Formats: sequence, C-alpha cells, structure tokens
Amino acid sequence: MDTELTSTEEWKTVITKCLQTLRSRFGDSSPDMAMILGSGLGSFADELEDSLHLPYGDLPGFPLPTVPGHSGECVVGKMGDKRVLIFRGRFHFYEGHSLHTATLPVRVAGAWKIPTLIVTNAAGGIRKDWAPASLMVISDHLNLLGHNPLRGANLDDFGTRFPDLSNAYDPAYRKQMFEIAQKANIDLKEGIYAAMNGPSYETPAEVRMLRTLGADAVGMSTVPETIVARHHGMRVLGMSCITNHAAGVQDDPGQEVNHEEVIENSKKAEAHFKKLLKAWVKAV
Ligand code: HPA
Repeated sequence: MDTELTSTEEWKTVITKCLQTLRSRFGDSSPDMAMILGSGLGSFADELEDSLHLPYGDLPGFPLPTVPGHSGECVVGKMGDKRVLIFRGRFHFYEGHSLHTATLPVRVAGAWKIPTLIVTNAAGGIRKDWAPASLMVISDHLNLLGHNPLRGANLDDFGTRFPDLSNAYDPAYRKQMFEIAQKANIDLKEGIYAAMNGPSYETPAEVRMLRTLGADAVGMSTVPETIVARHHGMRVLGMSCITNHAAGVQDDPGQEVNHEEVIENSKKAEAHFKKLLKAWVKAV
C-alpha cells in the first residue's frame, strides 16, 4: 500500500524521474500513443515489433501489480508506422493504492506529451442480451468511486483545475473503431462504463441500481485513468471486454461471478480484441 500524496512538488519529482527512466530506456522522442491493458489482455504487447521492455520495478513510485493476469512492465515497440508505449498491468484503487498512484502511468505518458491513450478493461455486462466475450467501445462513464484522481493541489503544468469531460471518450476515435469493426465483420457494442471500487463484485441490487443509472457495463478501473488523461488533454479510446453477466443479470439464483470466468472469457475475446485494436492503431 502506498502513502497518500504528500506534496505536489514531491509528486512532480516522481513523475519527472519516471519520465527520465523511460527516456533513457526507450529514447527521447515520445511514442504516438500509450495503452493500458486490463485483465487477460496483456499479451497484446507481444504484437509490437522491435520491442524494448522496462520492468515497473525500475520506475520510482510504480508499485508491482498484485492481481493474477496483470504483469508489470512497460513495452515500447512499433505497430505499423506507430510507436506505441504499452503499460502491461495497472494499479487499482482496491489494491490499496491512492488514485494518484493508480494513475501514475497516465501522468508519465501525459508528461511525455503522448497525445493518445487507449484503455482496455474487463467488465461485467449489465445488459441481458450482451453475451459474455462481447466487446464494447466506451462512450461515457459513471464515476462511482466516490473519489477523483485530480483531488488535491492542481498540477498546473499539466492541465486546468476543472477539466471538461463532455467528450471524455473521443467521438472520432469511437467512430473509427466502429468502421474498423464493420469492415472486419466483428460485432461491437457501445455503452456506458460504471466504475465501482471493488474488489468484491456487485450485488444484484447494485447492478439493478447501475442499470437504472444508465450503465451498460461495470468494472473497477479505467475511469481514474481517463480523467487524468483528459487533464493532460490526451484523446482517449476506451474498450471493454464484457467478460461475464454482472451479478443478477441472468435471473438465475445459482449465477455467480468469479475471476476465473473473467479471465476465461477475456481469452475467448482476445483474437477479436487484438484484431480491432491493431487495425485501429495502424489506421488512426
Ligand atoms: N463487476 C465488476 N468488475 C468486473 C466484472 C464485474 O462483473 N467483470 C469483470 N470486471
């Protein structure tokens, strides 16, 4: 468990040191985009060509991920003509990290002036008619964490005190992803992602509440990262793998949600997910 942010100056020093370490490993010029890969999707990093790796342990302030299915390293490599930085493994609020630590990778990407962030996650589906292993483009989010990663003194060098989130998930990026899915004949959903703290999965009553609030999927990540990315003015593409029906969705009192099912269905969706992301990265 990391400590809360003590001072803005100290935090800026951590970000600067991380950036220096990334530059000395990967070179000075900033990649075209950064990606944070969620549960079971880390293998996308293997698709990069001429890749260089840096373990999270080498980055000051980066904790080591504790969740099975999340490894901890940065990878930089080429995908078509794009240079991509992948954060393989993320930090969750439920692990005990502050939201400042949870969003440190985005801070570092933002400080490096990387213009685009792609965030992927595994999520529970709130819609009955969405089969597990479906893929969803995030159109908007509900921050139900009760916290905001921008709380505390504003990092004025990076962004404004009150960032706008009207188009948090870039409309042009979403459109491009749908065009790619249509060409590839891959079914793609679009919906609203609700972030809950976890680590327990939701109760059926909570899932009914989320449905009433307009959510289509529920998960335990992504929202803080998107908020920080928007603080930096980065454009965001968010993608969820709907790995399971959220609790109670199936009307089956015997239905349970478990991490093994989440990993299993993210593996099932992996080929389509990779195909879409790869085509998008090359086209954008
Ligand atoms: N709820 C919250 N987070 C999740 C779920 C879920 O059902 N599935 C995968 N991540």
